[in-house]
Amino acid sequence: MRLLVTGGAGFIGANFVHYTLREHPEHTITVLDALTYAGNEASLAPVRDRIEFVHGSVADAALVDELVGRSDAVVHFAAESHNDNSLNDPSPFLTTNIIGTYTILEAVRKHGVRLHHISTDEVYGDLELDDPKKFTDQTPYNPSSPYSSTKAGSDLLVRAWVRSFGITATISNCSNNYGPYQHIEKFIPRQITNVLAGLRPKLYGKGENVRDWIHVDDHNSAVHAILEKGRSGETYLIGSDGEKNNREVLSLILELLGQPGDAYDHVVDRAGHDLRYAIDASKLRDELGWKPRFTDFRDGLAATVDWYRENESWWGPLKQQVEAKYAAQGQ
Ligand code: NAD
Ligand code: DAU
Repeated sequence: MRLLVTGGAGFIGANFVHYTLREHPEHTITVLDALTYAGNEASLAPVRDRIEFVHGSVADAALVDELVGRSDAVVHFAAESHNDNSLNDPSPFLTTNIIGTYTILEAVRKHGVRLHHISTDEVYGDLELDDPKKFTDQTPYNPSSPYSSTKAGSDLLVRAWVRSFGITATISNCSNNYGPYQHIEKFIPRQITNVLAGLRPKLYGKGENVRDWIHVDDHNSAVHAILEKGRSGETYLIGSDGEKNNREVLSLILELLGQPGDAYDHVVDRAGHDLRYAIDASKLRDELGWKPRFTDFRDGLAATVDWYRENESWWGPLKQQVEAKYAAQGQ
């Protein structure tokens, strides 16, 4: 297939490009990316001569129309993705996540091209720590932040375009990803690079919030399973039973980097901070036969720590600016 990958210079999109070229070289790839603060062409440098890269926005209707018109499928990763930023300025979240998705939908509708829409488990809100239930595709939407509400809105647009206009589309809602090329504003790479830069890691509140961690390559193998075998109009939840609270994750990072267990600071909590996410991925496993490969979180995290240790040229230039922004928020 000729795949149009939006947001392919971001964390998960860049890993998707690498994964696809490695595991499914039968596909060709065009990346459409606006290169916002979160996009980094260096993440695609090793494969630059094997893909077409287009610098532009998913909200640019003429450009999107032209690119979708010469594709067989769109894998739509492009988004504003960071909750903390959405609390400071929701505006780009509405433009990219809502208008951008609408623009993609109108183009796939016009050209009869298949869409896979990448979304998040945060559309379902959060769970109590002792709740035995996990999120399924039947869980009602209940987003908490400007970020998650725009992702929820984009999912609902996709569902409406399937029902009202008969487009061919699937949706996946995945839990927290970790791995190489993740922007250092996010929890795991922020703490790893804090230690590497001689700064103390920063934990929001008490650190009891639980996230359901999945390696980015497992997310992307699931996306390929859905592209190959997913049924149009269906929603698939992606997760690999990786629930851990933030304190546990930070302890492991400190241990892997040879630091004392208490070498971190508690900082101001995030407003409206979701307590816990947990994914029931049985539909994906049972219907599509998908299985995660990274079942040992410690091993996956150790490899991620090594990647940041070996790639300071990728994250070093961003560090001061990212930390100055957090410091201004008391975080
Ligand atoms: P990211 O912030 O690392 O990357 C986003 C990419 O989109 C960047 O390259 C950026 O330049 C690009 N982009 C932003 N606005 C654009 C626009 N208007 N037009 C074109 N490109 C634009 O994000 P990520 O963590 O890789 O997330 C990718 C997708 O996966 C998002 O849709 C996000 O909601 C979803 N998701 C992320 C996670 C996670 O843990 N990171 C989990 C589940 C779902
Ligand atoms: O669940 C999927 C979502 O996971 C995606 O939709 C989002 O795009 C992605 O950013 C991620 O959202 P979170 O808000 O869960 O991720 P973040 O890395 O920002 O934070 C993870 C947890 O760590 C959260 O409980 C807040 C906490 N945290 C975060 C930072 C940056 C800290 O304790 N300290 C920090 O410095």
